[in-house]
Amino acid sequence: MSSDQKTFFIETFGCQMNFHDSEKVIGTLISQGYRRVESEEDADLIFYNTCSIRDKAEQKVFHRLADYKRLQQQGKRFAVIGCVAQQEGEKIFERAPHVSLVAGSASYRHLPEMLVQIESGARATGLDDRQTDETFETAFTARSNPHRGYITIIEGCDKFCAYCVVPYTRGKERSRSSESVLAEARQMVDSGYTDIQLLGQNVNSYRDPLGKKSFAELLAAVGELAGIRRVRFTTSHPRHFTRDIVEAIDAVSTLCDHVHLPVQSGSSRVLAAMNREYTREQYMERIEWLRSTRNREISLTTDIIVGFPGETEAEFEQTMSLMREVGYDGAFTFKYSPRPNTPAISLADSIPEDEKTRRLHLLNQQQQEIQRARYARHMGQVIEVMVEGYNDPRGQVIARTSQNKTFNFIVPAGVARPQVGSYVSARVTRTFPNSLAGEMVVPIEG
Ligand code: 5AD
Ligand code: SF4
Repeated sequence: MSSDQKTFFIETFGCQMNFHDSEKVIGTLISQGYRRVESEEDADLIFYNTCSIRDKAEQKVFHRLADYKRLQQQGKRFAVIGCVAQQEGEKIFERAPHVSLVAGSASYRHLPEMLVQIESGARATGLDDRQTDETFETAFTARSNPHRGYITIIEGCDKFCAYCVVPYTRGKERSRSSESVLAEARQMVDSGYTDIQLLGQNVNSYRDPLGKKSFAELLAAVGELAGIRRVRFTTSHPRHFTRDIVEAIDAVSTLCDHVHLPVQSGSSRVLAAMNREYTREQYMERIEWLRSTRNREISLTTDIIVGFPGETEAEFEQTMSLMREVGYDGAFTFKYSPRPNTPAISLADSIPEDEKTRRLHLLNQQQQEIQRARYARHMGQVIEVMVEGYNDPRGQVIARTSQNKTFNFIVPAGVARPQVGSYVSARVTRTFPNSLAGEMVVPIEG
């Protein structure tokens, strides 16, 4: 490799969408003649893929860019992409004049042109594409895991939940054709992938532009590809979570028995204020569908926000009770944080920070106990897992169940350690609130 080859470094924050976007950005850069390096010091071009979902993400980005300034003297260029880039736009150039490129995710398909522009010493922006119907499809995705991979099936979001920046940062909803998704999935399976995760901010709002497949049909079709072992999808919105999705999971054994269905609040009043477009009862109806499968026990996880403006103690208690009623296997819990451009930012009755902290703590404590009991139900079971890695100090293999639970197990003496990416069975001998532990079951030969 010639030493004058252009190099880049990339750092990624945020959700799986962002990580997968980075895999596509990396592939695009490599196809444009760049070589990836592992440190800022070694790179000509530094990419920073940002997230603005919560907290003071903007400030963190500006602090980091200030740190980067010292590298500018060495002739390096800087690119800020992702949700903070879209949100702050040209303000980034004002506050960090050493930045050359600012682009939101809806503009990544123009990256090759933008790269040419910045190489010529000019600045480039990709901020005006949020109304596009185009998705970022590239043949150059540089997937980092050779066994489990993501496929974006829908970009953007049209839901406008009152607290959420995503519709403003990722633009309007646009789906890829089911043919293109299936072609990518097939290609992945052919090159050894057995675990595919379909991605979208709102994955079940998927609408095939050619009208060929519903979301449930696409899911089933990916699950039926020869060679596939596991198919997951995230994130689902309860409003569009239809019964045919549950039926597909029940019918197609490769579709994982896990659904992440963010509820956000257990109070219908708060849900309406959040503009979630469902009530507690409608949410619980979907939970009933998920529980009434014939062949599978579907594991449920969720996202919750505490301290949305005006949330009363009684409304918070409704969230607590909903969590007990559902019995989630996992919950991502957040204190409400006001985000720029969102409708909720102008709502009165903000909840004091220490009250949000108190509610979050109660929620987490309760969820820990729910999970302890939920995980304990696996005691003694033999479960198929996909091997992800090893914990050598503990002599354990790290693996994942179809229900997305971490399962650490030991291998009996004299038996070869299973390879990363392989599927084996293990028996549960201990359970914890966040993981299972046990011993590999060695298949009887012959
Ligand atoms: N404040 C707190 N949590 C938020 N989330 C999204 N926006 C906010 C916000 N402004 C949470 C939601 C969502 C998850 C990805 O992040 O629970 O489902
Ligand atoms: Fe963060 Fe949302 Fe953007 Fe993902 S889409 S990076 S969670 S703000």
